[in-house]
Amino acid sequence: MPRKIIIDTDPGQDDAVAILLALASPDEIEVLAVVAVAGNVGLHHNANNARKVLELSGHTSVPVYAGCARPMRRQLVTAEHVHGDTGLNGPDLPEPSIPLQTQHGVDYIIDALMSAEPGTITLCTLGPLTNIAMAMVKQPAIIGRIAEIVMMGGAYFEVGNITPAAEFNIYVDPEAADVVLRSGVPTTMLPLDVTHQMQSTPARLDAIRALGNRTGEAVYQMLSFSQEFDLEKYGWEGAPLHDPTVIAYLLRPHLFEGRHCNVSIETDSELTVGMTVTDYWHVTGKVRNVNYMRNGDAEGFYALLNERLARLP
Ligand code: RIB
Ligand code: CA
Repeated sequence: MPRKIIIDTDPGQDDAVAILLALASPDEIEVLAVVAVAGNVGLHHNANNARKVLELSGHTSVPVYAGCARPMRRQLVTAEHVHGDTGLNGPDLPEPSIPLQTQHGVDYIIDALMSAEPGTITLCTLGPLTNIAMAMVKQPAIIGRIAEIVMMGGAYFEVGNITPAAEFNIYVDPEAADVVLRSGVPTTMLPLDVTHQMQSTPARLDAIRALGNRTGEAVYQMLSFSQEFDLEKYGWEGAPLHDPTVIAYLLRPHLFEGRHCNVSIETDSELTVGMTVTDYWHVTGKVRNVNYMRNGDAEGFYALLNERLARLP
């Protein structure tokens, strides 16, 4: 029985690859919907990009919703410097023809969870947690109905990427991350500690292009664009690949290892706001609210990615 998921996302080239990986895995994953959130770029672009990616994949029946256009409390911080002005720079994808759903994405998340059997829907979050937190605030009854949250976000051993202390998805909306991590929903985190090990080296990008389908070519162009900032910043052989680790975790959890521990969010200090303070060594008695992944098998990850992207048009 495929696992039902809702993907909450701010595409973003790496988000796009995660969405494609999920759509290419129908035996294991049923994508109920894609909900856009403001993050990498503004909400309009993110919702547009999500529809472009669905059309690229041929899976045009998956509904796309627009959620929140800004964080719960703070002003929106975006990342055009990484993703380009549209958020999906690289390939020249046609403007989407599939419609954007008229219902607000937060209301869709609430309705989907309230109407489904409890514990049957997993939330896969690839951007700031604004939509999830707002849904929890608007309808707290969903908290006991979410099977699991599998999120890309946070950092501890690898420290921050948007500030020395904070990873981007958490930094953009730390209050939302705080609400979600305090909710008690079973949560697995794929942080920078893992995603920085998943470097898209030239050989790995060439292998994606060599798939020979339009998806492989588009992904090659996406990642060739978005890698530039990180290659310059880190000087590594390949840029980290973040969001597809969320879907890879659903498909092959044994590619990753970590432990349950407490993760708390800094929301006050301007110096460290958005930091995921991770009690990995269990030095406090705090609730172990997160299954925190620390390591991943990069070769296995890219082998899975290539095998699945090859299935798409
Ligand atoms: O820090 C990496 C995260 O921020 C990824 O989700 C990327 O898409 C950006 O949203
Ligand atoms: Ca993202």
